[in-house]
Amino acid sequence: MPLKTVLTRALSEPSESDALEGTQRERIPVLIFDDPDLLSKQVARRIATLVNQRHRAGETLVLGLPTGSTPIGVYQHLVAMHREEALDLSNVVTFNLDEYHPIDSDSFQSYWRFMAENFFDHVNIAPENIHIPPGNLEPGDIESFCLGYEDAMVEAGGLDLVLLGIGRSGHIGFNEPGSGPNTRTRAITLDEITRKDAASDFFGEENVPRQAITMGVGTILEAKELILMATGEHKAPILQRAAEEEPNVEVTATYLQLHSNAAIYIDTAAAGELTRIKTPWVVRQLDWNDELAKRAVIWLSERVGKAIMRLEQADFHRHYLHSLTYAYPSTDNLCKKVFENLRQKIVYQEALISNNRVIVFSPHPDDDVISMGGMLNQLVENKNDTTVAYMTNGSVAVFDADVRRYLRFMEMTGSVFGLKEDAETTVGDSVENIRAFLESKNPGEIDTDQVQKVKAYIRYAEAISAIEVMGLGKDDVRFLDMPFYKTGRVRKDPISEADVMIVRELLEEIQPEHIFVAGDLSDPHGTHRMCYSAIEMALNEYVSKLKDPKRRPLVWLYRGAWQEWEIYQTNVFIPMFKTDLDRKIEAIFKHESQKDRAMFPGAYDTREFWERARDRNRETAEALNALGLPEFYAVEAFVTTTEL
Ligand code: F6R
Repeated sequence: MPLKTVLTRALSEPSESDALEGTQRERIPVLIFDDPDLLSKQVARRIATLVNQRHRAGETLVLGLPTGSTPIGVYQHLVAMHREEALDLSNVVTFNLDEYHPIDSDSFQSYWRFMAENFFDHVNIAPENIHIPPGNLEPGDIESFCLGYEDAMVEAGGLDLVLLGIGRSGHIGFNEPGSGPNTRTRAITLDEITRKDAASDFFGEENVPRQAITMGVGTILEAKELILMATGEHKAPILQRAAEEEPNVEVTATYLQLHSNAAIYIDTAAAGELTRIKTPWVVRQLDWNDELAKRAVIWLSERVGKAIMRLEQADFHRHYLHSLTYAYPSTDNLCKKVFENLRQKIVYQEALISNNRVIVFSPHPDDDVISMGGMLNQLVENKNDTTVAYMTNGSVAVFDADVRRYLRFMEMTGSVFGLKEDAETTVGDSVENIRAFLESKNPGEIDTDQVQKVKAYIRYAEAISAIEVMGLGKDDVRFLDMPFYKTGRVRKDPISEADVMIVRELLEEIQPEHIFVAGDLSDPHGTHRMCYSAIEMALNEYVSKLKDPKRRPLVWLYRGAWQEWEIYQTNVFIPMFKTDLDRKIEAIFKHESQKDRAMFPGAYDTREFWERARDRNRETAEALNALGLPEFYAVEAFVTTTEL
């Protein structure tokens, strides 16, 4: 559907039965993009079009702007258009949606700083046209500021276009659950989930401000046009609620449905829970194929709680699957086919690759054992020449207390290693410098290079101990230490040629027959996604130079600590005995800096990484068993592909 049609489409108010006859359950136009970058580009183009229209009319354009990880791509595209296509933003007036309170405007987490670094410092919007709520207002001044902010929007001519992200609490701006459709700019107390999600930016939930100043839902709804953007799997559940639930105060993004010119732009990962994507057969007639039929049969089996081989035709008819029985008249045969297909995907060690050259790419120094510890062990036992490549140094996730502990260890062991004299001079000075820095460090402050390096080595040493459990050693690892990660902050630099080159050179050196890649579309900070795209680029360059295309490596995708492949997607199930799972857990234990309490556990999952790995592998085993497949103790899941 062309963009214009989508934006002007009248909103229908589908009832449950209408929705079932329709093709979707969404109550607001939703555009799904395969590539998040295209999404950003489309939004940037929409802004550029409006800017140019207003220029021609001699008018200003008033924008409402968000911060956070989602809009960064839009700002990057606008900056590029300004530089390369002479996009003139001198007629733009901006009002930011929100700011934490209290916060210093030059602190790393301040939205003032965010906007300057990501956008305003690189374009020609006049400083007097920029409005952001200040984070340092005295409590008594907040109310009058908010009234003034509203007045300033009116004086500027009213908001033309507001870009929005969506928090996992369902907020737009910082309108947390409970914010009604008539709320105006005001101070608000942040929701628990919002503070947990912000915890990594602030290096600890305890450092996240409790309040914010935000435009109200009513303020936002008065804009002429609204675009809500969301990317990544972690946004999928809340996005489904925002688009499919009736407007309600629990998910304030649902109020966008009340607007006649609002649309949601999402990538395929964020669309994953929409009914039309997750269970399309519920909302429309499908052109069935074997892949879809398999998905539907697995879904049906789970839904009715019967093993696949016990399903009856009546089960299909009672659960929206009439058309499937039409396309596959013998549902018995269909069930047998799906069952067999799954059964053949269970691969025992004897049938797994052996004596091959393998690279395991691990975004952080622990994803390898957390996500594929069982596989890693079998690769080694099958005498594959296995190299584990840790892509980033993981230093951001190490607590300062761990650095202090290792400093103490160095000092105390100096005499054991005959370093005493040295320790009092060079080593001793460094130790004191680091200690002094850590003592004066503010929460969230960037570590010195020296401290970042110490933290990286803490993780490297742990990574080697972990793979020793699998029979590998220090000669089997590479620490790629990719530059994009080394900002010292949670927010990373974009992937550059330097990152891609490092990966490509490793591929050229090892010429692997198999590579293992973390195939998530989202982890809390996007590092997995960035590592994935660096490998994708490097692999394409590497393959394009291969004389014999048959030497293209097979890619095995595994998921990070945050999720597992769906059963229908999985190509290879690796069954594990209790001893296998115990060994894997022992390897995860070696990552001591991430144990007991991880710096970035992700919001609302209090389990440790080893517990998540254990639960996830056991859940996969149980899910297979419930479908009628053999009962294993635990199972790891992989998707294989020749291309990324
Ligand atoms: C920030 C804002 C918030 C964010 C939302 C999503 O200015 O208004 O509503 O848009 O919390 O944040 P990210 O994009 O970081 O997931």
